[in-house]
Amino acid sequence: MSTFRDVDPAVTGKLTCGSLRGANAGENVVLRGWVNRRRDLGGLIFIDLRDRYGLTQIVFNPEIQPDAHAMASEVRNEYVLEATGIVRERPEGTKNPRLATGEIEIEVQSLTVLNTSLNPPFYINEESDVDESLRLKYRYLDLRRERMQRNVILRHQIVKYMRDFLDDRGFVEVETPLLIRSTPEGARDFVVPSSGFPGEFYALPQSPQQLKQLLMVSGLDRYFQIARCFRDEAQRADRQPEFTQLDIEMSFVSQEDVMGLIEQLFIELTETFTDKSFNRPFSRLTYHEAMERFGSDRPDMRFGLEFQNVTDAVRGTEFKAFAGVIENGGVIKGIVVPGCADYTRKQIDDITEIAKANGAKGLATFALREGEIKSPVAKFLSEGELAAVTTDLGADEGDLVLLVADSFDVVSKSLSALRTHFGDVLGLADPNVFHYLWIYEFPLLEWDEEGQRWDATHNPFSGFLEEDRPLLATDPGAVRAKQYDLTLNGFEVGGGSVRMHTRADQAMIFSMMGHSPEAQQERFGAILDALEFGAPPHGGIAMGIDRWVMFAADESNIREVMAFPKNQRGVDLMFDAPSPIEEQQLVDVGLSLRPNVDKDQAART
Ligand code: AMO
Ligand code: AMP
Repeated sequence: MSTFRDVDPAVTGKLTCGSLRGANAGENVVLRGWVNRRRDLGGLIFIDLRDRYGLTQIVFNPEIQPDAHAMASEVRNEYVLEATGIVRERPEGTKNPRLATGEIEIEVQSLTVLNTSLNPPFYINEESDVDESLRLKYRYLDLRRERMQRNVILRHQIVKYMRDFLDDRGFVEVETPLLIRSTPEGARDFVVPSSGFPGEFYALPQSPQQLKQLLMVSGLDRYFQIARCFRDEAQRADRQPEFTQLDIEMSFVSQEDVMGLIEQLFIELTETFTDKSFNRPFSRLTYHEAMERFGSDRPDMRFGLEFQNVTDAVRGTEFKAFAGVIENGGVIKGIVVPGCADYTRKQIDDITEIAKANGAKGLATFALREGEIKSPVAKFLSEGELAAVTTDLGADEGDLVLLVADSFDVVSKSLSALRTHFGDVLGLADPNVFHYLWIYEFPLLEWDEEGQRWDATHNPFSGFLEEDRPLLATDPGAVRAKQYDLTLNGFEVGGGSVRMHTRADQAMIFSMMGHSPEAQQERFGAILDALEFGAPPHGGIAMGIDRWVMFAADESNIREVMAFPKNQRGVDLMFDAPSPIEEQQLVDVGLSLRPNVDKDQAART
C-alpha cells in the first residue's frame, strides 16, 4: 500500500502507520489503526496495521509479552487496535522494499483493542471486483479501500490546486444559496416545499448561473465557487443528480480571456496530477466543423476516422437508398476503417446494429479484399461510383468502408457511434493520452418543433456574435453564440459563454423563446432588472470537477471519484434515499400525495 501524502508527526502530534523508517529503530512508539491482515505462525503473530498513510508490521512474541500475544490471537480483520512497542529493524531477508515502512517492525509490549469489527461484506485489504450496489450500501467501508482513498485525496488536492490558482489571480470565492427560485434551465429542477408558504417551493440550483452574473453587476469582477449543482435528469456514467462545478465568472472579458485562463489551469492540473501526454495549445474546432468532420460536438480526437462526404460523388446514382436520401436533401458520409476487410457476416451485422440503434436505416459496407471490393450494394453502383466511395476516400487493400445515407443529424449520430466503437475496439484511443479540444461558435438557438418556438442550445444567457445580429430577424438558427465547451477524449468537461449584458438583448432572446413580457418579469425579473443598473460586459465558464477528476484518477465513472454518490437510478443506497416522509411533514408544507403515487415505484438498483 502506498503512502498517501504522509503527514509530519510533528504537525499532527501522532505517528501514522506510514511514518516509521529504519532511523526510528529503538524508539518507543504508539500506533493506532485497523487490522489489514493477521498471520499466526504458531509462535509469532504478525499483524499489518493500516491507516490512510500506510501499513506497519507489528509483531507479537509469546515469550516477551504473553498477554498481548494472547489478545492478538483473538483479533480479526478490521479490528481497531492501539499498539505500544519498540521499533526495531527487521532481520535481514525479511525487509520489504515495496513498503515505505518495510525496513522496520514494532515489537509490541501492550495492546488495546479499541473496537471490534464484523466481518466486512467485501475485502478491504485487496483490490477485488465487488458488486457496486454492495459497495454503495457500505460506502464507508468502500472508502476504507486504497483505491477509493487515493481518489478522495486526489480530488481534495485537485480542488485545492484550483482554489490556489484562482486566488493567486485575484478571484474571490463566493457562496451562493442552494434554495433559490425554480427557473427553466434545461433539466428538471429538484424542488423543496416550504412550511412558511405552503404550496410554494424553492428549487435547488442547476448551476449558480444567474447568481454569478448578478455578482458581476455587484462589481465582484472575478468570482469563483466550488459549486454544487442539482439536476433531476437521467443518470449516466458521467452524470449524477448532484455534482460539483468549478464555477467562474469574470467582467470585461472576451471569449479568448476565459479560454486562456482555463487552458492554463488545465495544463497545470494535467502536468501536476497525471502522467498523461497531452496537446498544447488545446485544439479548437467550430461546432460546425466538428459536426461535419466527426458528427459530434465532443469528438474524441485521439484518433482520426474522420467522416468523408460522398454525396456529390454519387449524385445521380441509380441506387435507390442513396438517390432517395439525396433527393430529400440528406447526405451520404463514410469512414474508412483500417484492417477490417475480413470482418465476418456476424461482425458486419453487429456494427449495422450500432448504426440502426442510432437511427440509421442501414449501413453500406465495402470490404477491400483480395484486390476486389466486396459489398452487398456493389451491384447497385457503377464502377465510377464504387471507386468514389472507396479508393477515392483513401481506402486500401484490407480496409472496410462504412457509409450511411440519411439526414445530416442521423448520419452524424450513427457514424459517430461507429467511429467511437472502432476507436475503442481497434485500440486507436490511447489511454495514456489526453486530447483537449475546444468547441466554439455553437448555434445560439434551435427550433423547438413541439413548442413551436426557439430554444437556447446551451443557456439562455449566452451572447451572440455581433456580426450575426442581423440574422436574428432573418435566420435565427444560423446565429452563432459566444459559447465554448472544453472537451477531453470525447467528454464535455466544461462549458461557458460571454453573456448578454443589456436588458434589450436579453429580453429579445427571451421573447424569441416564447416568454411574454409578463412571464419574463415573473421568471427572470431579478436578472433583467439588474442588467439595467450598469451591468458590465461579462462571461464565464463552469468545469465539471467530477468529470475531470475521473480522468485524472483513470476511472471510467464519476461515482468512483465522489465520496457518497447516488447509483445509476439516483438512489442513495446507504441512507436509502429518496424516502417517504411523515404525513405531518406533508401537512406542514400543504401537500398531499396523488392517489397511487407509491404503487408505481421503480426498482432502486
Ligand atoms: P453546463 O450545464 O454545461 O454549464 O455544466 C458545466 C459542466 O458541468 C458538468 N456537468 C455534470 N457533471 C456531472 N453530472 C451532471 N449531471 C453534469 N451536468 C453537467 C459538465 C459540464 O461541462 N451555468 C453553465 C456554465 C456557464 O455558462 O458558465 C453550466 O452549468 O462537465
Ligand atoms: P435494402 O435495399 O434495404 O435491402 O438495402 C440494401 C443494402 O443497402 C443493405 O446493405 C443496407 O444495409 C444498405 N442500406 C440501405 N439503406 C441505407 C442507408 N440509408 N444508408 C446506408 N446503407 C443503406
